[in-house]
Amino acid sequence: MIKHPGVRMGLLPLLVGGFLLLGSTAAPAADEPSDVSQGALLAITCFACHGFEGKSVGGMPSIRGFPADYLISQMQAFRDGSRPSTVMGRHATGYSDEELRIMAHYIEMISKQ
Ligand code: HEC
Repeated sequence: MIKHPGVRMGLLPLLVGGFLLLGSTAAPAADEPSDVSQGALLAITCFACHGFEGKSVGGMPSIRGFPADYLISQMQAFRDGSRPSTVMGRHATGYSDEELRIMAHYIEMISKQ
């Protein structure tokens, strides 16, 4: 079998970049590029239920078009139980306030595009 070490080495920067992205603990101001990529990673789980880019086509509520402040306050209300829910309460416990902020600003940003 012929080996192509060049191809394998070519993947290395991608892998390293991916780890840096996922492992980033810095807290830059909103709307910085690193916030955008972290927001995209966080929000992609939401779109499984709430539709592509938050626009639901079924019975699920859309989360597109809301201001970030609304999304943050609702996620916090789901998390602390002050807003009753079936799944969102359990889902929201997985996110810190900082992650909610980054995710909500990302969803608000793509809603305007
Ligand atoms: C397993 C499916 C599922 C996932 C994943 C999910 N949601 Fe939800 N979401 C729901 C359901 C169902 C509701 C209605 C409330 C309830 O019963 O939990 C809801 C309601 C909401 C609402 C309230 C909308 C309104 O009109 O006030 C917001 C905001 C929301 N979700 C945000 C999110 C965000 C942000 C994420 C990603 C972190 C997310 N959801 C992931 C199922 C989901």
